Amino acid sequence: MMNVTADEGQFISLFLKMMNAKKTIEVGVFTGYSLLTTALALPDDGKIIAIDPDREAYETGLPFIQKANMAHKIQFIQSDAFKVMEQLKTNGEEGTFDFAFVDADKQNYIHYHEQLLKLVKVGGIIAYDNTLWSGTVAASDDDEMAEYLRRVRVDIMQLNSFLAADSRIELAQLSIGDGLTLCRRVQ
Ligand SMILES: C[S@@+](CC[C@H](N)C(=O)[O-])C[C@H]1O[C@@H](n2cnc3c(N)ncnc32)[C@H](O)[C@@H]1O
Repeated sequence: MMNVTADEGQFISLFLKMMNAKKTIEVGVFTGYSLLTTALALPDDGKIIAIDPDREAYETGLPFIQKANMAHKIQFIQSDAFKVMEQLKTNGEEGTFDFAFVDADKQNYIHYHEQLLKLVKVGGIIAYDNTLWSGTVAASDDDEMAEYLRRVRVDIMQLNSFLAADSRIELAQLSIGDGLTLCRRVQ
């Protein structure tokens, strides 16, 4: 349920290689499946800032990251992502990231967007996971759906509308996994 799907992981990996990404930010790590996929796609001197308040989940997956010899590319920060984004801006890291992958607390994606637009360089990509939210973004309000889907669906729909109208990016929404929206910063 929590990890990105295998085909989505494969896509992200190929995409990162195509764009020659070197420095990325991962918002929502869990046990690190998408993180490891990303690390494997970066050059040996690549760097990932990986943020999650749940260190235990990260440490569950860490042996696999170490076995793949990828730990040196990862700086795990146990924290709420918003705080870290503020710090990165203060540390002069605005406009330095090639890619951001957001797969965390859905209600805050829209707030992360403003921060990530500053952190990612012009031409860089911000990728939002779960933007189809099990297909419920295309459902009617009175359709049957699980309560957790109904609750978060509103946030995802607001995000999708916001992104579609945001002239600072151009985007493509892919029906892979649970929906992946790629936003390219254009200004
Ligand atoms: C769906 S999982 C991430 C799965 C991972 N991207 C993968 O595919 O392997 C969501 C993660 O977001 C984390 N999360 C929740 N709120 C967060 C926040 N405010 N900042 C950073 N991470 C958060 C959760 O602890 C959880 O581990």
